Amino acid sequence: MKPIQVGLLGIGTVGSGVFNVLQRNQEEIRRRAGRGIEIACVADLDTARARSIVGERTRVVADAREVIANPDIDVVVELIGGCGIARELVLEAIAAGKHVVTANKALLAVHGTEIFRAATERGVMVAYEAAVAGGIPIIKALREGLTANRIQWVAGIINGTTNFILSEMRDKGLDFDVVLKEAQALGYAEADPTFDIEGVDAAHKATIISAIAFGIPVQFDKAYVEGITRLAAADIRYAEQLGYRIKLLGITRRTPRGVELRVHPSLVPARRLIANVEGAMNAVLVQGDAVGATLYYGKGAGAEPTASAVIADLVDLTRLHGADAAHRVPPLGFQCASLSEAGG
Ligand code: HSE
Repeated sequence: MKPIQVGLLGIGTVGSGVFNVLQRNQEEIRRRAGRGIEIACVADLDTARARSIVGERTRVVADAREVIANPDIDVVVELIGGCGIARELVLEAIAAGKHVVTANKALLAVHGTEIFRAATERGVMVAYEAAVAGGIPIIKALREGLTANRIQWVAGIINGTTNFILSEMRDKGLDFDVVLKEAQALGYAEADPTFDIEGVDAAHKATIISAIAFGIPVQFDKAYVEGITRLAAADIRYAEQLGYRIKLLGITRRTPRGVELRVHPSLVPARRLIANVEGAMNAVLVQGDAVGATLYYGKGAGAEPTASAVIADLVDLTRLHGADAAHRVPPLGFQCASLSEAGG
Protein backbone atom coordinates (compact mmCIF):
# COMPACT_ATOMS: atom_id res chain seq x y z
CA MET A 1 0.00 0.00 0.00
CA LYS A 2 1.29 3.48 -0.86
CA PRO A 3 2.56 5.36 2.23
CA ILE A 4 0.20 7.95 3.66
CA GLN A 5 1.26 11.33 2.23
CA VAL A 6 2.03 14.09 4.71
CA GLY A 7 2.51 17.78 4.01
CA LEU A 8 4.50 19.69 6.62
CA LEU A 9 3.81 23.40 7.12
CA GLY A 10 6.91 24.84 8.79
CA ILE A 11 10.13 22.94 9.33
CA GLY A 12 11.84 24.52 12.33
CA THR A 13 12.98 22.63 15.42
CA VAL A 14 9.93 20.36 15.73
CA GLY A 15 9.56 19.83 11.98
CA SER A 16 13.13 18.64 11.63
CA GLY A 17 12.56 16.36 14.64
CA VAL A 18 9.51 14.86 12.89
CA PHE A 19 11.49 14.32 9.72
CA ASN A 20 14.43 12.70 11.53
CA VAL A 21 12.39 10.40 13.80
CA LEU A 22 10.21 9.26 10.87
CA GLN A 23 13.35 8.38 8.94
CA ARG A 24 15.16 6.70 11.81
CA ASN A 25 12.22 4.58 13.00
CA GLN A 26 10.44 4.19 9.69
CA GLU A 27 10.26 0.41 9.72
CA GLU A 28 8.80 0.18 13.24
CA ILE A 29 6.39 3.02 12.56
CA ARG A 30 5.25 1.37 9.33
CA ARG A 31 4.59 -1.91 11.17
CA ARG A 32 2.64 -0.20 13.92
CA ALA A 33 0.60 2.00 11.59
CA GLY A 34 -0.02 -0.74 9.04
CA ARG A 35 1.22 1.54 6.31
CA GLY A 36 4.22 3.79 5.70
CA ILE A 37 4.13 7.48 6.58
CA GLU A 38 5.97 9.72 4.13
CA ILE A 39 6.64 13.44 4.26
CA ALA A 40 5.85 14.18 0.66
CA CYS A 41 6.06 17.95 0.76
CA VAL A 42 7.37 20.66 3.06
CA ALA A 43 6.39 24.33 3.00
CA ASP A 44 8.69 26.84 4.63
CA LEU A 45 9.55 30.44 3.79
CA ASP A 46 13.22 29.55 4.18
CA THR A 47 13.35 27.00 1.38
CA ALA A 48 17.15 26.70 1.50
CA ARG A 49 17.12 25.70 5.18
CA ALA A 50 14.19 23.35 4.57
CA ARG A 51 16.08 21.73 1.70
CA SER A 52 19.15 21.28 3.90
CA ILE A 53 17.00 19.32 6.39
CA VAL A 54 14.96 17.13 4.04
CA GLY A 55 17.42 16.55 1.20
CA GLU A 56 16.59 16.22 -2.48
CA ARG A 57 13.86 13.57 -2.40
CA THR A 58 11.21 15.64 -0.60
CA ARG A 59 9.46 18.46 -2.39
CA VAL A 60 10.09 21.88 -0.80
CA VAL A 61 7.89 24.90 -1.50
CA ALA A 62 7.65 28.40 -0.05
CA ASP A 63 3.85 28.62 -0.28
CA ALA A 64 1.92 26.53 2.27
CA ARG A 65 -1.20 26.75 0.08
CA GLU A 66 0.54 24.63 -2.54
CA VAL A 67 0.66 21.81 0.00
CA ILE A 68 -3.00 22.23 0.94
CA ALA A 69 -4.09 22.28 -2.70
CA ASN A 70 -2.10 19.15 -3.54
CA PRO A 71 -4.64 16.33 -4.05
CA ASP A 72 -2.04 13.69 -3.14
CA ILE A 73 -1.60 15.00 0.43
CA ASP A 74 -3.68 13.08 3.00
CA VAL A 75 -2.59 14.84 6.20
CA VAL A 76 -1.36 18.38 6.82
CA VAL A 77 0.94 18.90 9.82
CA GLU A 78 0.87 22.52 11.02
CA LEU A 79 4.04 23.54 12.84
CA ILE A 80 3.99 27.27 12.16
CA GLY A 81 2.56 28.31 15.50
CA GLY A 82 0.53 31.32 16.59
CA CYS A 83 -3.01 32.33 15.72
CA GLY A 84 -2.45 34.31 12.51
CA ILE A 85 -1.63 32.54 9.28
CA ALA A 86 -1.68 29.17 11.08
CA ARG A 87 -5.43 29.55 11.74
CA GLU A 88 -6.15 30.40 8.10
CA LEU A 89 -4.10 27.47 6.83
CA VAL A 90 -5.60 24.94 9.25
CA LEU A 91 -9.13 26.02 8.26
CA GLU A 92 -8.19 25.84 4.57
CA ALA A 93 -6.68 22.37 5.01
CA ILE A 94 -9.86 21.20 6.74
CA ALA A 95 -12.00 22.72 3.97
CA ALA A 96 -9.83 20.85 1.45
CA GLY A 97 -10.70 17.58 3.23
CA LYS A 98 -7.29 17.00 4.81
CA HIS A 99 -6.77 15.62 8.30
CA VAL A 100 -4.70 18.00 10.40
CA VAL A 101 -2.06 17.37 13.04
CA THR A 102 -0.94 20.41 15.00
CA ALA A 103 1.36 21.26 17.89
CA ASN A 104 -0.21 24.71 18.15
CA LYS A 105 -1.60 25.15 21.66
CA ALA A 106 -2.38 28.86 21.23
CA LEU A 107 -4.43 28.15 18.12
CA LEU A 108 -6.49 25.42 19.79
CA ALA A 109 -6.93 27.26 23.09
CA VAL A 110 -8.20 30.40 21.36
CA HIS A 111 -9.84 29.13 18.15
CA GLY A 112 -10.43 25.46 19.03
CA THR A 113 -14.23 25.70 18.90
CA GLU A 114 -14.18 27.08 15.36
CA ILE A 115 -11.55 24.57 14.22
CA PHE A 116 -13.19 21.47 15.71
CA ARG A 117 -16.59 22.53 14.36
CA ALA A 118 -15.14 22.94 10.87
CA ALA A 119 -13.44 19.54 11.11
CA THR A 120 -16.63 17.81 12.27
CA GLU A 121 -18.64 19.37 9.45
CA ARG A 122 -16.04 18.34 6.87
CA GLY A 123 -15.60 14.85 8.36
CA VAL A 124 -11.86 15.14 9.02
CA MET A 125 -9.81 14.82 12.19
CA VAL A 126 -7.70 17.38 14.02
CA ALA A 127 -5.11 15.71 16.25
CA TYR A 128 -3.01 17.66 18.76
CA GLU A 129 -1.08 15.45 21.17
CA ALA A 130 2.01 17.64 20.68
CA ALA A 131 0.17 20.79 21.75
CA VAL A 132 0.25 19.89 25.45
CA ALA A 133 3.31 18.79 27.44
CA GLY A 134 5.41 17.86 24.37
CA GLY A 135 6.43 14.23 24.55
CA ILE A 136 4.12 13.26 27.43
CA PRO A 137 1.07 11.51 25.96
CA ILE A 138 -1.33 13.35 28.24
CA ILE A 139 -4.05 13.85 25.62
CA LYS A 140 -4.17 10.13 24.96
CA ALA A 141 -4.09 9.41 28.70
CA LEU A 142 -7.13 11.62 29.25
CA ARG A 143 -9.05 10.50 26.18
CA GLU A 144 -8.16 6.83 26.18
CA GLY A 145 -6.47 5.41 29.28
CA LEU A 146 -8.63 7.34 31.76
CA THR A 147 -11.81 7.38 29.71
CA ALA A 148 -13.75 5.40 32.34
CA ASN A 149 -13.15 8.07 34.96
CA ARG A 150 -14.98 11.11 36.12
CA ILE A 151 -11.96 13.42 36.25
CA GLN A 152 -11.89 15.50 39.42
CA TRP A 153 -8.87 17.67 38.78
CA VAL A 154 -5.73 18.01 36.72
CA ALA A 155 -2.68 19.96 37.91
CA GLY A 156 0.64 20.18 36.18
CA ILE A 157 3.93 21.79 35.40
CA ILE A 158 3.23 22.36 31.74
CA ASN A 159 5.72 25.05 30.85
CA GLY A 160 9.34 23.93 30.77
CA THR A 161 10.83 27.41 30.47
CA THR A 162 9.37 28.66 33.74
CA ASN A 163 10.17 25.42 35.56
CA PHE A 164 13.75 25.72 34.31
CA ILE A 165 13.91 29.33 35.50
CA LEU A 166 12.49 28.51 38.94
CA SER A 167 14.83 25.51 39.33
CA GLU A 168 17.93 27.48 38.36
CA MET A 169 16.99 30.42 40.56
CA ARG A 170 16.59 28.04 43.51
CA ASP A 171 19.63 25.83 42.89
CA LYS A 172 22.14 28.42 41.78
CA GLY A 173 20.71 31.58 43.28
CA LEU A 174 20.74 33.14 39.78
CA ASP A 175 18.66 36.13 38.77
CA PHE A 176 15.52 35.77 36.68
CA ASP A 177 16.91 37.63 33.62
CA VAL A 178 20.09 35.56 33.46
CA VAL A 179 18.19 32.27 33.57
CA LEU A 180 15.63 33.45 31.02
CA LYS A 181 18.44 34.10 28.52
CA GLU A 182 19.81 30.62 29.22
CA ALA A 183 16.35 29.08 28.61
CA GLN A 184 16.08 30.94 25.31
CA ALA A 185 19.54 29.79 24.25
CA LEU A 186 18.56 26.19 25.04
CA GLY A 187 15.50 26.53 22.80
CA TYR A 188 12.84 25.99 25.52
CA ALA A 189 11.22 29.41 25.35
CA GLU A 190 8.55 30.53 22.90
CA ALA A 191 9.55 32.98 20.14
CA ASP A 192 7.96 35.58 22.41
CA PRO A 193 9.09 34.51 25.90
CA THR A 194 6.41 36.74 27.45
CA PHE A 195 4.02 33.87 26.77
CA ASP A 196 6.16 31.59 28.95
CA ILE A 197 6.97 33.89 31.85
CA GLU A 198 3.51 35.47 32.08
CA GLY A 199 1.85 32.05 32.24
CA VAL A 200 0.05 32.38 28.89
CA ASP A 201 1.65 29.28 27.33
CA ALA A 202 0.74 27.19 30.38
CA ALA A 203 -2.79 28.63 30.26
CA HIS A 204 -3.16 27.62 26.59
CA LYS A 205 -2.23 24.07 27.53
CA ALA A 206 -4.39 24.03 30.68
CA THR A 207 -7.33 25.25 28.57
CA ILE A 208 -6.97 22.29 26.22
CA ILE A 209 -6.60 19.84 29.13
CA SER A 210 -9.69 21.32 30.79
CA ALA A 211 -11.79 20.93 27.64
CA ILE A 212 -10.86 17.27 27.30
CA ALA A 213 -11.03 16.39 30.98
CA PHE A 214 -14.46 17.95 31.53
CA GLY A 215 -16.00 17.86 28.06
CA ILE A 216 -16.40 21.63 27.90
CA PRO A 217 -15.59 24.05 25.06
CA VAL A 218 -12.09 25.55 25.00
CA GLN A 219 -12.37 28.78 26.98
CA PHE A 220 -8.97 30.43 27.25
CA ASP A 221 -10.60 33.80 27.92
CA LYS A 222 -12.03 32.43 31.19
CA ALA A 223 -8.64 31.35 32.59
CA TYR A 224 -6.99 33.13 35.52
CA VAL A 225 -3.40 33.68 34.38
CA GLU A 226 -0.46 34.79 36.50
CA GLY A 227 3.18 34.18 35.58
CA ILE A 228 6.44 34.20 37.47
CA THR A 229 7.71 37.69 36.69
CA ARG A 230 6.76 39.07 40.10
CA LEU A 231 8.64 36.37 42.00
CA ALA A 232 11.87 37.43 43.66
CA ALA A 233 14.75 35.15 44.64
CA ALA A 234 13.75 35.85 48.26
CA ASP A 235 10.28 34.30 47.69
CA ILE A 236 11.91 31.11 46.51
CA ARG A 237 14.26 31.11 49.51
CA TYR A 238 11.51 31.73 52.06
CA ALA A 239 9.36 29.00 50.55
CA GLU A 240 12.31 26.63 50.81
CA GLN A 241 12.81 27.48 54.49
CA LEU A 242 9.15 26.66 55.15
CA GLY A 243 9.44 23.28 53.36
CA TYR A 244 7.86 24.29 50.04
CA ARG A 245 8.92 24.73 46.41
CA ILE A 246 7.36 27.35 44.18
CA LYS A 247 6.03 25.84 40.95
CA LEU A 248 4.04 27.44 38.15
CA LEU A 249 1.04 25.12 38.02
CA GLY A 250 -1.76 24.86 35.51
CA ILE A 251 -4.82 23.71 37.44
CA THR A 252 -8.30 22.78 36.30
CA ARG A 253 -10.91 21.19 38.53
CA ARG A 254 -14.58 20.58 39.06
CA THR A 255 -16.22 22.69 41.72
CA PRO A 256 -19.88 22.95 42.72
CA ARG A 257 -19.91 26.27 40.82
CA GLY A 258 -18.40 24.93 37.59
CA VAL A 259 -14.95 24.22 36.22
CA GLU A 260 -11.97 26.19 37.53
CA LEU A 261 -9.12 27.02 35.17
CA ARG A 262 -6.06 28.80 36.49
CA VAL A 263 -2.31 29.20 36.13
CA HIS A 264 -0.23 30.77 38.90
CA PRO A 265 2.83 30.20 41.06
CA SER A 266 1.94 27.69 43.76
CA LEU A 267 3.53 26.52 47.00
CA VAL A 268 4.02 22.77 46.75
CA PRO A 269 5.25 20.78 49.79
CA ALA A 270 8.87 19.80 49.03
CA ARG A 271 8.20 16.11 49.73
CA ARG A 272 5.69 15.81 46.87
CA LEU A 273 6.88 14.19 43.63
CA ILE A 274 5.77 17.16 41.57
CA ALA A 275 7.83 19.54 43.75
CA ASN A 276 10.91 17.62 42.64
CA VAL A 277 10.33 18.02 38.91
CA GLU A 278 13.38 20.05 37.94
CA GLY A 279 14.68 21.91 34.91
CA ALA A 280 12.63 22.05 31.72
CA MET A 281 10.74 18.84 32.52
CA ASN A 282 6.96 18.69 32.65
CA ALA A 283 4.70 16.66 34.93
CA VAL A 284 0.92 16.32 34.99
CA LEU A 285 -1.15 14.90 37.86
CA VAL A 286 -4.63 13.65 37.05
CA GLN A 287 -7.16 12.68 39.70
CA GLY A 288 -9.91 10.38 38.47
CA ASP A 289 -12.72 8.92 40.59
CA ALA A 290 -11.93 5.33 39.68
CA VAL A 291 -8.18 5.32 39.18
CA GLY A 292 -7.20 7.81 41.91
CA ALA A 293 -4.13 9.95 41.25
CA THR A 294 -1.91 9.28 38.25
CA LEU A 295 1.27 11.17 37.36
CA TYR A 296 2.81 11.70 33.91
CA TYR A 297 6.37 12.98 33.62
CA GLY A 298 8.66 13.78 30.71
CA LYS A 299 10.07 16.34 28.33
CA GLY A 300 7.55 19.01 27.49
CA ALA A 301 9.51 20.62 24.68
CA GLY A 302 12.31 20.01 22.21
CA ALA A 303 12.62 18.60 18.72
CA GLU A 304 12.30 14.87 19.23
CA PRO A 305 10.01 14.74 22.30
CA THR A 306 7.51 16.91 20.43
CA ALA A 307 8.09 14.95 17.23
CA SER A 308 7.26 11.79 19.18
CA ALA A 309 3.79 13.23 19.88
CA VAL A 310 3.25 14.52 16.32
CA ILE A 311 4.13 11.10 14.89
CA ALA A 312 1.86 9.33 17.39
CA ASP A 313 -0.99 11.37 15.91
CA LEU A 314 0.13 10.51 12.37
CA VAL A 315 0.12 6.82 13.29
CA ASP A 316 -3.37 7.13 14.79
CA LEU A 317 -4.70 8.82 11.67
CA THR A 318 -3.07 6.21 9.49
CA ARG A 319 -4.61 3.38 11.52
CA LEU A 320 -8.05 4.94 11.46
CA HIS A 321 -8.18 6.19 7.92
CA GLY A 322 -5.60 4.62 5.79
CA ALA A 323 -4.52 1.20 6.97
CA ASP A 324 -5.94 -2.26 6.48
CA ALA A 325 -8.55 -3.56 8.95
CA ALA A 326 -5.97 -5.47 11.00
CA HIS A 327 -4.34 -2.22 12.09
CA ARG A 328 -7.44 -0.20 12.98
CA VAL A 329 -7.02 -1.25 16.59
CA PRO A 330 -3.50 -0.62 17.91
CA PRO A 331 -1.76 -3.98 18.06
CA LEU A 332 -0.77 -5.19 21.52
CA GLY A 333 2.69 -6.15 20.37
CA PHE A 334 4.35 -9.08 18.61
CA GLN A 335 4.99 -7.14 15.46
CA CYS A 336 8.42 -8.61 14.88
CA ALA A 337 8.91 -12.05 13.43
CA SER A 338 11.54 -12.93 16.04
CA LEU A 339 13.22 -11.57 19.14
CA SER A 340 16.45 -10.95 17.26
CA GLU A 341 14.58 -8.80 14.76
CA ALA A 342 13.50 -6.57 17.65
CA GLY A 343 17.05 -6.12 18.90
CA GLY A 344 19.56 -3.38 18.18
N1 HSE B 1 7.84 27.24 25.57
C1 HSE B 1 7.23 25.99 25.87
C2 HSE B 1 7.74 25.51 27.22
C3 HSE B 1 7.57 25.01 24.77
O1 HSE B 1 8.67 26.11 27.75
O2 HSE B 1 7.19 24.55 27.76
C4 HSE B 1 6.71 23.79 24.71
O3 HSE B 1 5.36 24.09 24.57
